[in-house]
Amino acid sequence: MVAVIKPDISGPATSNTTVTDASPATERIKKFFEDKDWKFYAAVFAGVAVAGAGAYYLTAGSSSKKQKKSSSSKKKEADEATGKGKAPASDATGKADKTSEPSSVDGWVNMTPEAIASLTDADRAEAAGALKAKGNSFFSSKKYQEAIDFYTQAILFKPDPIFYSNRAACYANLGKSDEVIADCNEALKLDSTYIKALNRRAQALEKKGNLSDSLYDFTCVCILDGFKNETAAKAMERLLKKVSEEKAKELIKTKKQKLPSPTFVSAYLDSFHQDQTPMTSTEDGSGDAYYNRARKALQEKKYEEAMDAFDKAVELGCSQQAQALNMQGTFVFLKGDTKGAVAAFNKAIELDPKYVQTYIKRASIYMEQGDIAATFKQFEDAIGIDASNPDIYYHRGQVNYINGNFEAAAKDYSESIKLDDSFVYSHIQLGVVQYKLGSISSAMATFKNTLKKFENNADVHNYYGELLADQQKIEEAMEMFGKAVELDAKNPLPYINKAMLMYQVRGDVQQAMDLCKGALEADPLCDAAVASLAQILLEQGQPAEAVRYYEMAIDLARTEAELEHAISYVEATKTQIRFAQEYPSAVPKLNALRG
Ligand SMILES: *[C@@H]1O[C@H](CO)[C@@H](O)[C@H](O)[C@H]1NC(C)=O
Ligand SMILES: *[C@@H]1O[C@H](CO)[C@@H](O)[C@H](O)[C@H]1NC(C)=O
Repeated sequence: MVAVIKPDISGPATSNTTVTDASPATERIKKFFEDKDWKFYAAVFAGVAVAGAGAYYLTAGSSSKKQKKSSSSKKKEADEATGKGKAPASDATGKADKTSEPSSVDGWVNMTPEAIASLTDADRAEAAGALKAKGNSFFSSKKYQEAIDFYTQAILFKPDPIFYSNRAACYANLGKSDEVIADCNEALKLDSTYIKALNRRAQALEKKGNLSDSLYDFTCVCILDGFKNETAAKAMERLLKKVSEEKAKELIKTKKQKLPSPTFVSAYLDSFHQDQTPMTSTEDGSGDAYYNRARKALQEKKYEEAMDAFDKAVELGCSQQAQALNMQGTFVFLKGDTKGAVAAFNKAIELDPKYVQTYIKRASIYMEQGDIAATFKQFEDAIGIDASNPDIYYHRGQVNYINGNFEAAAKDYSESIKLDDSFVYSHIQLGVVQYKLGSISSAMATFKNTLKKFENNADVHNYYGELLADQQKIEEAMEMFGKAVELDAKNPLPYINKAMLMYQVRGDVQQAMDLCKGALEADPLCDAAVASLAQILLEQGQPAEAVRYYEMAIDLARTEAELEHAISYVEATKTQIRFAQEYPSAVPKLNALRG
């Protein structure tokens, strides 16, 4: 999802982003466009662009805002049984507890149920209080078994959620998770919003390895107390990550490797000059025939077909075997199998050590594997072979860009343009990197010239539109995106960009959704469209609909990292849905957090 599944649309999606109250729309737009220059390339580097699973639905951003507002919460959280030696305070939740002196329990111990039943309410309450107080004092001195006995007796007099929760604390200290869970269940039956019991059950469930339910409990804690407890919020994020990791590991085993969306594949392929040797039209089932068929399929953007034909050409052997291997490796890489791709590229280089493109593509893989030294070595080797190949500089520019070396990137793009000024992406990226470097006027000039030179190119319009939007030139940006759609109705990106402006600036939810759906029609595998739709639906309070799209994102994911990311959104959203069902009266809290 390709990376892009990171639904940047909602500014506060990552834990280290805070949306200022001053101009949330501005911030959101900025956030949305910040990482976008990357579609062409970073997307391949799935690892680079995938945000942590912490990029999260309940938006840490709005929660921190909330934190400030609700800092004066009156509820005094007495520290209950935490195992740190403090007494489980009389009442975590401020419930009535008028008889807390650890006074005499002598009269109350070991009474029969019949005897208890015959007491007055007042007597029962007094007895329960005394027994609990005794339990607390045993708890304080870490005599958990004795404390359990007294809480158990207290419960006979009065089934109070605090008694169950305190007893659960004892069991927790004794490492008896099943008992902890059972007691918390009882406490929560009596008071479903009892946060301490939820916290305790969450911890026990995690200990037992029941991660999904632990995640749910931690989430309830966070929503119910407005994200005031940072430990619980961190636990929630940690569990979400764990749950998603586990599910992704399972899913990846059975997932068929497949190509990303055609938009993506063509963006990647278009960033290389293709084999220009004339095609023959042999149809004799030879390796050469397959090689030509593959190239034809490439031109027609029939990528699955191209991939199969290249495989066949390699298998049968053809006169351009190194090129065929290069393309085989390229598709293997696009399907997310870096190891297989390196193997193919190594073979290609063995066969034809002078074919520069293979080094460049191998660089992409080393980059994805995080091996910067090996990455740059590929470019040096390539320059040693043919210093006049413009692809080298363009792709080294991309690597420099990703690594934040904007000056170096700008030089590379310029060099690539000097060698071949007909390659549109060098121009686009030069403009983008100038913008990043803060030379707004150079960037705008670059784009204006590029627009003149490539007046019918949708990508130029689209990226220019992004820079305009970033400068709050909304009308002009809209116009650029509209033009891009006109020029290439099959390119989903301008639809999505326009949708985001409609949504964030104009507040036009319907138009925004329609545009996202337009993007999906243009490219049914467009993960960015899916993620955008899901995010809008979520923010509109339609989590069930949002889940549908997040599940599509799972289908579209190719690598384990992408899967994990998509799964984390599904899990998080499902948790919210379950919360809304089980705590209907707390739904306003949930909606407030959604911002
Ligand atoms: C996880 O915990 C929940 C709630 O206590 C329980 O209903 C469920 O059966 C548990 N699942 C597993 C796999 O243990
Ligand atoms: C905060 O959450 C942690 C982890 O769930 C829990 O152990 C702790 O008791 C909570 N603190 C308060 C003040 O509720």
